[in-house]
Amino acid sequence: MNILFIGDIYGSLGRDTVKKYIARVKEQYSINYCIANGENAAHGKGITEVIYKEFLEQGINVITMGNHTFDNREIFNFIDNAKNLIRPANLDMSIPGKGYDIYNYNEYKVAIINLLGRTFMMPANDPFRAFDEIYELVRQITPIIIVDLHAEATSEKIAFGYYVDGRATAVIGTHTHVPTADNRILSKQTAYISDVGMTGPLNGVIGVERESVISRFINGLPVKFNPVEEGDAQFNAVVIQVNKSTGKAIKIERINIFDKKIEI
Ligand SMILES: [Fe+2]
Ligand SMILES: [Fe+2]
Repeated sequence: MNILFIGDIYGSLGRDTVKKYIARVKEQYSINYCIANGENAAHGKGITEVIYKEFLEQGINVITMGNHTFDNREIFNFIDNAKNLIRPANLDMSIPGKGYDIYNYNEYKVAIINLLGRTFMMPANDPFRAFDEIYELVRQITPIIIVDLHAEATSEKIAFGYYVDGRATAVIGTHTHVPTADNRILSKQTAYISDVGMTGPLNGVIGVERESVISRFINGLPVKFNPVEEGDAQFNAVVIQVNKSTGKAIKIERINIFDKKIEI
């Protein structure tokens, strides 16, 4: 079974890039199941119902989120009915939505868990202990367990990868928007990557117009961050090959496409 995981889809350029590449990537890699992080899908912040439905229509099975989950307040109108949307599990129990779920794929089941890291991030409960609790529930139903670990620090992500090695099928890092080259199968057959990277603008600063970010770094004054909405783009994803019966990962491969408007 081949699972495609698409990194943080950022703004309209990210959505256009998904539209442009998803069918050909799914065909080329014989994809059976597709997960994407959608926390930046609506103008860089959060997601709307229209976008959520558009993703499902394009063949994304499940959308995971992150620290930007609730930035677009429209989510409060539909998150309770959004069967295929997962927000971080290690948040306060009063928060709407769900942190994991189990989905059918033919006669198999796929558990998907979204967790926030705590290093250089918004306050959250312990993702390690949160995984332990969820794992005890889902392992009784399926061995195929995919974790989107939405976190800043590579050290926290690597530590988490080792912590769940042999229990999770895959730990896919998201959030930094910058792909890492450390994709590998850990010793107990968990697929791991520190960050899958984003899908969206290539020439901004992690999606945002560069001028505003540069001036913010120079003088520290508050500026409005706007997403880059045209120009070169990138499509970053991984494909995880999974043994359907055991839930063990066989291979994790990066897909990093530069969609350049002008070839050099
Ligand atoms: Fe993001
Ligand atoms: Fe994030």
